[in-house]
Amino acid sequence: ANPPKPAYVGAEKDTFAFVTVAKRWPVIVTNVIDDVYKSYHQGEGGKHEQEAKQIIEQISALKYDIQRDKELRPIQEDGYGDVAQWNQLLETYFKGKTWFTASWLFTECYMYRRIREVFQLTETWKDYDPFFRQKTSTFRGSSAAVFELAAKFAEPIRQQSDDEKRVWFHELAQVSLWGNATDLSLLANMKEEDIKSVQAMGQAKLEEQEKMIVVNDLDKIWNKVKTLQSGRVDFVLDNAGFELYVDLVFADYLLQANCASQIYFHCKTIPWFVSDTMPSDFQWLIDTCLSDFFNQVEPAPSAEQTENLKTLARRWQQYMKEGKFVVKSDPFWCTGLAYRHLKAEAPDLFTDMAQKADLVIFKGDLNFRKLTYDCHWPVTTSFKEAIGPVMADEFGSLCVFRTNKADVVVGLKEGKEEELLEAGFEDWRYSGKFAVVEFSQGRGK
Ligand code: F6P
Ligand code: MG
Repeated sequence: ANPPKPAYVGAEKDTFAFVTVAKRWPVIVTNVIDDVYKSYHQGEGGKHEQEAKQIIEQISALKYDIQRDKELRPIQEDGYGDVAQWNQLLETYFKGKTWFTASWLFTECYMYRRIREVFQLTETWKDYDPFFRQKTSTFRGSSAAVFELAAKFAEPIRQQSDDEKRVWFHELAQVSLWGNATDLSLLANMKEEDIKSVQAMGQAKLEEQEKMIVVNDLDKIWNKVKTLQSGRVDFVLDNAGFELYVDLVFADYLLQANCASQIYFHCKTIPWFVSDTMPSDFQWLIDTCLSDFFNQVEPAPSAEQTENLKTLARRWQQYMKEGKFVVKSDPFWCTGLAYRHLKAEAPDLFTDMAQKADLVIFKGDLNFRKLTYDCHWPVTTSFKEAIGPVMADEFGSLCVFRTNKADVVVGLKEGKEEELLEAGFEDWRYSGKFAVVEFSQGRGK
């Protein structure tokens, strides 16, 4: 399990890894405390309240350990099936390592598992999602863009020429891509206008925005997609709320354009990286679009807007009933492992995806980090080399839609990085304003 190049670690002062461990995590952990505090005040008292105080104490201790750079300790036996695997990894690869000295990819996943442990060890808070409140309120804040897209896509799409299909594919793939810019763990760094502007993307804006995709394989991906007839496309999902909503709009298009007849959505099993999608978030999104959830926003939506959204959500609900939308989740997505280990550590999942999916779309920054092992690749390393031989040669076609929110980048043309730096974009690797869309043709090619 050693990465092919040195892994990014929090201790590297000039990286976004350092910023994250030193500054972003303490905020994320503090938000968990605030959330639990709010919930127990609205709760039933008694055991629930007593356990809330215990949770707050333990999460505060976790924050202390991170900030004092303590050693990573084993996960306690909390009844979840993955404890032995975590502890074996800790023992084998991270013995004596600390929050800043173990690889950033591992420690960040481990932090979310440690948060889970705290809830898991209670009686009355076991299934509690400390990020749910943030997910819902941000989705409510996205109402303008939600209604705009609903107005466009509520009606079924009429027959299209091949050229129209190509244009629509590019547009919707980009909507799905830029939906990733708004994940909650980074929201603290983004200005409200920035968020609104990436969400509300008309066609002209999208064309402009396409320049920000520093590695752009969309044409290659379209060339693959257009050959699919009634194929299976898998999304390895990232964030719930707005990003999931645009992923569903995109997936719906792939069904309607007859490129796919089935879409699999791979979700997380536990609350993860603040805003990631669990099966419950998926269901919540559809139920919410069918409810009066947005009526509380200012200005209140019109009857037509609400109806458009409901039409869209009813169609999605129907897809679920017919097995055209399939929601999956596997514990592998919530380990600290890079995807080079997918085959060895989750063989059934690997085989199913490798053999049955015609295309797998990995969404978001964390998926990119896991695909590339989050290590110090020169930026001109090919995507194929970075994902490693198993994913490149034994898996099927795969691609990644990622807005850049971490140090690792691969696939750049010679000279591109210099160009970005000369233009003054020192933070191009992690500001979330740039993106990469990369494709691997996969097995037998
Ligand atoms: O904190 C690490 C990180 O990968 C960030 O760089 C990013 O803000 C966040 O996690 C999650 O991003 P995403 O939701 O796109 O995977
Ligand atoms: Mg995420």
